[in-house]
Amino acid sequence: MNSTFTISLANKIDLIPESERIILKSNNYKLTLSHLQPGLKSAFNHLKHSPATLSDLRQLVVETDGIEGKDKFDKYLQGLTNLGWICHSVYPLATAIPMTGNYQFNYPKIEDWQQQTFTLSRFGYLHQVNGEMILESPQSQAKIILLDWRATALITKLSQPQTSTTLIAGIPDITEELAQQFLSLLLATQMLSSETENSHLIQWEFHDLLFHSRSRKGRHSNPIGGTYRFLDKIEPLPVVKPPMSDKVIELYKPDLEDLLKTDVSFTQVLESRRSIREYGENPITIEQLGELLYRAARIQEIIDKEKMGQLSRRPYPGGGAIHELEIYPLINYCQGIEPALYHYRPDAHELELVSEWSQEIEALVTEACLSNGSQKMPQILIIITARFNRMFWKYQSMAYAAILKHVGVLYNTLYLVSTAMNLAPCGIGAGNSDIFAKATGIDYYEESSVGEFILGTKKSS
Ligand SMILES: Cc1cc2nc3c(=O)[nH]c(=O)nc-3n(C[C@H](O)[C@H](O)[C@H](O)COP(=O)(O)O)c2cc1C
Repeated sequence: MNSTFTISLANKIDLIPESERIILKSNNYKLTLSHLQPGLKSAFNHLKHSPATLSDLRQLVVETDGIEGKDKFDKYLQGLTNLGWICHSVYPLATAIPMTGNYQFNYPKIEDWQQQTFTLSRFGYLHQVNGEMILESPQSQAKIILLDWRATALITKLSQPQTSTTLIAGIPDITEELAQQFLSLLLATQMLSSETENSHLIQWEFHDLLFHSRSRKGRHSNPIGGTYRFLDKIEPLPVVKPPMSDKVIELYKPDLEDLLKTDVSFTQVLESRRSIREYGENPITIEQLGELLYRAARIQEIIDKEKMGQLSRRPYPGGGAIHELEIYPLINYCQGIEPALYHYRPDAHELELVSEWSQEIEALVTEACLSNGSQKMPQILIIITARFNRMFWKYQSMAYAAILKHVGVLYNTLYLVSTAMNLAPCGIGAGNSDIFAKATGIDYYEESSVGEFILGTKKSS
């Protein structure tokens, strides 16, 4: 163990001293340390109230309890470190706070400080949280609070390889020894890049690894799941988006009883489904669009949970039955309806006009055409958006990940129904959310496009 780090009990841990024992408590775990000798008790009190370096604490234990006290202290400390209850600081620069149980804090051994160079990992990032500058990385199990502007300056310099000597050049009042302690803290918390990147890591982009690690459970301690953090603070959004226009087109509703008798079999739909990028001469009809939307995406039932918000049942599933996705058919060629951008009202089964044809709408449909490499412009581009706050109101950490899963669920439902209707469907991987915002005037942060799906008639064989 590197005895120069200052160690302390994490803020979230309560220490309750009793006559011969100490109780340590987090919000979900309690540890009782019994028959403690005075030196150990005193060292634990230091951990909570007046942090000291490991070597000072060991010395305190040895002076009070004798030499055998040191091994006991080291053993307890290792256990508490593994629980993620111990913070490591290099004063006055930084404190590493564990973000997870099963915490690994590996004290680095540097053979030759003059030869070795150090660089910040490409996954490390700085951000401001509650007035503090925090260094985080999806590779790390800790977050590091930078306590002094010089720590931020050192991090900036570490964008280029540095030895402990070059690192301190130009930064006032930082000794090389302090810089080495700071580098050790960064190494122990996986904030620095290793010379050769793990072969599995090479292909990861920064934002993908951050999104993956922070939207899954594991290497962070952020609340995750349905936490309802805005309950009683912000009203949840209604399940049906308020009307966008009074120019409304009623859509055709298929007769489900008839379909039950005439539909192709489920196995045939599954086995014949393909992405189709060649389209027929005759465009799709407004009746076909009505049938597709009715079968794939209408609201079947609204469930009112009062102050917990409104939910709904639809033909496709959705986490928490929240159904934050909205459908905007961009009509290019469709028999029975003018080219324009519309919004689908899933309760009334109607289209409402959002925007007449515009430069932005032209850009959206052209981009989609380039994305699927077809020779012809799409007959219909179905743009899927998310009303983000419907999900964010309930869920934390995994809300955006769940939205993207929902897009996949809706894509597949559209694929299957289109196939059953003998239409030509094709999912699209990337669309332009900023152009969509411009085309509709909808605030990017309130509701953005998260998926696109091309639909047309099949080319006759
Ligand atoms: C999420 C998703 C994104 C896709 N993105 C595109 C795309 O941008 N362009 C395209 O031509 N096809 C796209 N596709 C269709 C796939 O290329 C297609 O599903 C794949 O090649 C398998 O062929 P199949 O669908 O005919 O079975 C996408 C499909 C999905 C599910």
